Amino acid sequence: MQPSHIEHLGIAVASLEETIPFYEKLLGQKCYSIEEVAEQKVRTAFFKLGDTKIELLEPTAEDSPIAKYLEKNPRGGVHHVAFCVENIQASLDAAATAGFQLIDKTPRKGAEGLNIGFLHPKSTHGVLMELCANPNK
Ligand code: CO
Repeated sequence: MQPSHIEHLGIAVASLEETIPFYEKLLGQKCYSIEEVAEQKVRTAFFKLGDTKIELLEPTAEDSPIAKYLEKNPRGGVHHVAFCVENIQASLDAAATAGFQLIDKTPRKGAEGLNIGFLHPKSTHGVLMELCANPNK
């Protein structure tokens, strides 16, 4: 698998509008992108710190995974850690071979045009982990 770096931290929020100004103040920069990912029923907002991004996630439907997270954590919180890998399918296969439980056996499209796949928190000591690869690299 050998991830090169943390691609982003996914942070669940109830409202992008209410949270973006906080992160703009904290990080001293403007949010550079807001994007809806219909497949995952979220709206995302991005900041960049070096090679690592902060991804704010707001649910767009009641059955969104982020809505479920907010039911348990109404104030929001760290939702997932995403590792950058070179080859997404090879990395998911390697994770399965290593005994990790996969949420995605094959990659799907995430925000920012990345190919992504999730590992199940049951097999990662409670942390939801995402692998992602840039198909244009
Ligand atoms: Co993510």
